Amino acid sequence: MLVLGIETSCDETAAAVVGSGGELLSSVVSTQLELHRPFGGVVPEIASRSHLENVLPVVDQAIQEAGVELSQIQGIGVTYGPGLVGALLVGLQAAKGLSLALNIPFVGVNHLEGHLFASFIPPANPSFPLVGMVVSGGHTSLFLVEAKGKYRRLGKTLDDAAGESFDKVAKMLGLGYPGGPAISKLATQGDPKAHRFPRAMAKRDNLDFSFSGLKTAVMMHLRKNPVQDDNTKQKADICASFQQAVVDVLKIKSIKAVKFTGCRHLVISGGVACNSRLREDLSIACQQEGIECVIPSPEFCTDNAAMIALCGQYYLSNNHLSPFDLNAIANLKLGAG
Ligand code: KG4
Ligand code: ZN
Repeated sequence: MLVLGIETSCDETAAAVVGSGGELLSSVVSTQLELHRPFGGVVPEIASRSHLENVLPVVDQAIQEAGVELSQIQGIGVTYGPGLVGALLVGLQAAKGLSLALNIPFVGVNHLEGHLFASFIPPANPSFPLVGMVVSGGHTSLFLVEAKGKYRRLGKTLDDAAGESFDKVAKMLGLGYPGGPAISKLATQGDPKAHRFPRAMAKRDNLDFSFSGLKTAVMMHLRKNPVQDDNTKQKADICASFQQAVVDVLKIKSIKAVKFTGCRHLVISGGVACNSRLREDLSIACQQEGIECVIPSPEFCTDNAAMIALCGQYYLSNNHLSPFDLNAIANLKLGAG
């Protein structure tokens, strides 16, 4: 089944096409980063307006790059939550319009489930049961995935998401938005052992996270030791030490989840999974523990429509269709628990 995926939950307008065997035929992402950068974060109203302008051109481009005709598309997967409600509605309405015009089914896809499906973009094909960790700007959660479509949430952040803490610390250091890539870049010049920032809840027996204390620790450190604008080494040491604290917690908790559930497989996705230190440290730790770890290439860790198309294809080929009155759900959850 040839499926079109549409993703507009936050600040990327994305469309992708997957072929009958799940092979990726195209993936187009139009980012709004430059529109939001002056505000230091995503402005919901600007996001919706930009999606409105871009959604159909991005779909056209995805169809063209896939080398197919719109009339050949057999189904549509579209993100309907969680995310910014105005932004979600643009993608959802586009999908409904195309579904009606082409007389093909559509299915609403949970964005978090989409992130988990990024680990199934061919050639990757991890075995079940597995532990999935979604680490992004809005979410930090661990799931037990017994099969596609069968999820149990094992733990989540009790306050800030990991990506959110990167963004907030970058703001404190005057590194701009989004913070993750900026911190990760500067951290390569710093010493991760320069400062000992807290690894909150790392030793606790549960699988929840907390990142707000770490953010506060960096803020307190900066109050006592204000950064000199021309002192790159000082900033780099803070970046490297902060990043290592986040990476250590994500590594400890995800491996704890794998052991706790008796799984042998771990998949990770979401924007923070682009972080090279996290990718490196987790790969080494998993190898030592005999865990098979799948981390999609960075383009499929951040928001994209390939993961949504693939997830949509799974549901559509199992006859799960959405009704035309499907609404966007800003705080849509995934899995019991
Ligand atoms: O998955 P995503 O594109 O959007 C959400 O669903 O939130 O994730 C965006 C988040 C931002 O907080 C960004 O700072 C973070 O991912 N991020 C990173 C890196 N690249 C993006 N965090 C750490 N290191 C990176 N290299
Ligand atoms: Zn996301």
